[in-house]
Amino acid sequence: MNRRRRIYEGKAKVLYEGPEPGTLIQHFKDDATAFNAKKHAVIDGKGVLNNRISEFIFQALNEIGVPTHFIKRLNMREQLIRSVEIIPLEVVVRNVAAGSIATRLGLEEGTPLPRSIIEFYYKNDELNDPMVSEEHISAFGWASPQELDEMMMLAMRINDFLTGMFLAAGIKLVDFKIEMGRLWDNDMSRVILADEISPDSCRLWDAKSKDKLDKDRFRRDMGGLIEAYTEVARRLGIVTENEQSAGSGPRLVQ
Ligand SMILES: Nc1ncnc2c1ncn2[C@@H]1O[C@H](COP(=O)(O)OP(=O)(O)O)[C@@H](O)[C@H]1O
Ligand SMILES: [Mg+2]
Repeated sequence: MNRRRRIYEGKAKVLYEGPEPGTLIQHFKDDATAFNAKKHAVIDGKGVLNNRISEFIFQALNEIGVPTHFIKRLNMREQLIRSVEIIPLEVVVRNVAAGSIATRLGLEEGTPLPRSIIEFYYKNDELNDPMVSEEHISAFGWASPQELDEMMMLAMRINDFLTGMFLAAGIKLVDFKIEMGRLWDNDMSRVILADEISPDSCRLWDAKSKDKLDKDRFRRDMGGLIEAYTEVARRLGIVTENEQSAGSGPRLVQ
């Protein structure tokens, strides 16, 4: 039985009306998509892992004072979040060349970038999420110049924190994508982190072997996606060693 009102169904998640005004329930599905959903599969257990990994990261960010939409996890696949007005931009932070920047600029994948680089993509599936500049963003009013400043500050703080957190777990944070939204308080709004941060939205490489522990395993038909996501969860301390050796798929601690 499910009496909740479904607000939105996306490629990887479903949003339901929350228990109180201003809240939503974010449900993580097992669907994996790539190349603007031209490639699709259902990967058993992915939603459960992403819910837990994203919870872990958002909780840690909340604790260091980065404002996020995360309130609390409700169950294996769902979390309670604050409803925001999503800014229609994907904010990508890159530390090492991989994916589209490697192709676009002719860089060998794995080349460290001279410094961390922030890119913006206009969130529009019909247009294939085109890359846009700050000029486009303010000219079309997708975000104000002040909001853009806030977004870049937040993106850099998140990058600094996550880089250290993953490195301590033997993982190189190559790049990641985030979404942000406006939280309104009367006629004032501030920008907070929304959506998710998980191996679906990051490039994570084993620091030593450079093995991919992220969605590139799906994009590039490498297999072993659940094993890789489980390894990320294990190294972050979300799943225990004992449960791993017990076998038969990912089992998660409370
Ligand atoms: N706190 C929030 N409030 C409102 N919308 C959100 C919030 N966090 C994420 N979203 C939106 O919910 C959707 C999540 O579902 P997803 O499957 O990722 O969708 P998509 O296929 O559009 O990427 C995204 O469109 C995202 O922008
Ligand atoms: Mg999405």
